[in-house]
Amino acid sequence: MLEKISQLTDEISALTAASLQDVEQLRIKYLGKKGAITLLMADFRNVPAESKREVGQAINQLKTLATEKINTLRETLADADSDDDAVDLTRTATPRLFGTRHPLSLVKREMLSIFASMGFTIAEGPEIEDDWHVFSSLNFPADHPARDMQDTFFISRDPADILLRTHTSSVQTRVMEKTQPPIRIVCPGRVYRNEAISARAHCFFHQVEGLYIDKNVSFADLRQVLLQFAKEMFGPETQIRLRPSYFPFTEPSAEMDISCNICGGKGCALCKGTGWVEILGCGMVDPNVLKACGIDPEVYSGYAFGMGIERIANLKYRVTDLRLFSENDVRFLHEFDAAR
Ligand code: DAH
Repeated sequence: MLEKISQLTDEISALTAASLQDVEQLRIKYLGKKGAITLLMADFRNVPAESKREVGQAINQLKTLATEKINTLRETLADADSDDDAVDLTRTATPRLFGTRHPLSLVKREMLSIFASMGFTIAEGPEIEDDWHVFSSLNFPADHPARDMQDTFFISRDPADILLRTHTSSVQTRVMEKTQPPIRIVCPGRVYRNEAISARAHCFFHQVEGLYIDKNVSFADLRQVLLQFAKEMFGPETQIRLRPSYFPFTEPSAEMDISCNICGGKGCALCKGTGWVEILGCGMVDPNVLKACGIDPEVYSGYAFGMGIERIANLKYRVTDLRLFSENDVRFLHEFDAAR
C-alpha cells in the first residue's frame, strides 16, 4: 500500500490541467466517491495494526497534497479566465475622482487677475530670507518688536540673521534692488509667524503684496486702485474707507476697511455692528526704503499695500476657522468644487 501511495504522490505532484473542466475530472479521479484516494482510505481497514500509524499518516499527506494541488490548478485557471474578461466594454466607466483647486488658490488667482487687469505683473521671492530683506531695508528699527523671537522664526542668528519671512513685503526689496522704476508688481506667497495655532491665527498664512513706483505716484492713485480691487472682489456696491495707521515702510500709512459684505454696511456679527471690516494695510513707500533699494526718492514715489489671502477668503466664503485651510479635509475642499 505504501508503494501505491508513493506512486500516487508522484503522479499528483506532476498534474497539469488546461481548463477548469480538466481540473474537475482530476478531482473526481482522485478525490471523488470512487476516486483513487477515496478507495485507498476504504482499504485502510485491511492494513495490519502495526502499520496503521505509518500508512494512516501517508494517506493523510496524500489527501492534503491532492486537495491543495487541485485548488491551486483551479485558482490559476480561474485567474487566467477572469483576465480574458478584463476588458468588458459593457461596463460603466470606472468613476474618476478629480481633485479640486484649493480655496486659497482660487482666491489668490482671482486677486491676481484683478491686479493683472490693472497692469500689475507677478513677482515672487524666497520664503527663507535674511534680516535685510524682511526688516532692515524696510525701515524697521533695530529694536522693533517684530524682530523678536515671539513673532519671527529664526533659522540662524550668527553670523547673519536667516529667518522665515514674516511678510511678502520682502519681495518689494528684492525687486527694487534689481529694477529701476516704473515698477508695478503684486507678490503672492506664504509667510510665517510664531503664533499659537487657533481658529484665528496660524503659524503660516498667505499674503499678496502690491507695489507701484513711478514718477508722480500719489495717495489718490493708491486709493483708486484699492477701490477698484474691492469692487471687483466683493461686488460693485462695495465701499472702502482708509484709516490712518503705522507701518515702518510707508509714510503716511493706512488700513483699509470695506463695507461689510454680509450686511451691506448695516451692522452684523461679522463686522461687530460697525458696518466695516478691515482687509489690508497700505501707504506711500517711505523715502528711506526707496533709498535703501537704490531708487532716488527725489525723482520717484510709490505706494505699497499688503493683504492676507486667508482674510479675503474668509470674507468671501465665510470660513470662520483658519485651520480648515491647512487640514486638507476633502469634505471642506469639495465645498469649493463649483468655484473651480
Ligand atoms: N507687511 C504688512 C503685514 O504683514 C502688510 C502691509 C502693510 C504691506 C502696509 C504693505 C503696506 O505694503 O504698505 O502686516
